[in-house]
Amino acid sequence: MIEKITQVQEEALQEIEKADTLELLQQLRITYLGKKGKIQELMSLMRDLSKEDKPAFGQKVNVCKDVVTNAMEEKQKVLSAGALSSKLEKEKIDISLAGEKMEIGTIHPLILIQQEIEDLFVGMGYKVAEGPEVEKDYYNFELANIPQDHPARDMQDTFYIDPETLLRTHTTAMQMRELEKANGQLPIKLICPGKVYRRDDDDATHSHQFTQCEGLVVGEHITLADLKGTLKYMADVMFGQGRQVRFRPSYFPFTEPSVEVDVSCPFCNGKGCNVCKGSGWIEILGAGMVHPHVLEMNGFDPEKCSGFAFGVGLERVAMLKYGIDDIRNFYTNDIRFLETFDRFD
Ligand code: PHE
Repeated sequence: MIEKITQVQEEALQEIEKADTLELLQQLRITYLGKKGKIQELMSLMRDLSKEDKPAFGQKVNVCKDVVTNAMEEKQKVLSAGALSSKLEKEKIDISLAGEKMEIGTIHPLILIQQEIEDLFVGMGYKVAEGPEVEKDYYNFELANIPQDHPARDMQDTFYIDPETLLRTHTTAMQMRELEKANGQLPIKLICPGKVYRRDDDDATHSHQFTQCEGLVVGEHITLADLKGTLKYMADVMFGQGRQVRFRPSYFPFTEPSVEVDVSCPFCNGKGCNVCKGSGWIEILGAGMVHPHVLEMNGFDPEKCSGFAFGVGLERVAMLKYGIDDIRNFYTNDIRFLETFDRFD
């Protein structure tokens, strides 16, 4: 009987010794230590023993159980440690390996300029307005003081969708929407950036689609001097401190007086170079005081308020600023061109 115990114990220890996975060890635990396991079986043998032999036998079985349990626990530790280190080995990451360079897109130069202009005007308390690119003739022309038959309609070759609907030819259309929306409430202080369209033959300096940003301020006692100060500030931020701003008389139906605005050439500082064609000045935008009739049509009293407006072409600013000589570069999506504006490198 006693030999039986020794035998079970030996056998168990040998198998535990051989077990090389945690699953196998678990199997052995059931085989030997389980409720119907071999050691429990030994216990049941006690039934046939005499009263005197029972305690010694029981004690032996208990020792055997302890020995086997301990051996299992030891093996469990060894196998767990092994499993962890092999897992670590398998999942090893070489952090010294050079990483793959992730290609990320770049911000389009026109968007860069637009963001710069937005930042500078938002900083002065302007709001940024939006409007539709497919526009009503009413906002693009009528409210801007360009009625049917007005010769100024010829200045802007228009893509018409139907007689009343068109692709907006200037961001002035948004200005008109905003004026109308304000419903006579002052002050108005906003910029409206966006795409505009004109029937034009594309070449190095013309594009049938381009981008403008309009500014509009309406309030009490707004003067041409306010416009000049604002544009001088914009020129300083966009082209570098110390710019001069010059107004030349011009004509737009929606402003009176109207001006063409030149900035002293940032490349030669006004001395004359090939960018400014020797003049020392570069024309950058059209502007003026909002025409009294435009104010009136939009529900404002021109006796009580006045305003200025300006419209700048973003391609022109970007071309000057970044030395780009062909406007088509903005629209042909040549990666080699766009990558040169990578600000994240
Ligand atoms: N809308 C004019 C253009 O497209 C620019 C402009 C805007 C002029 C506002 C004066 C005032 O050429």
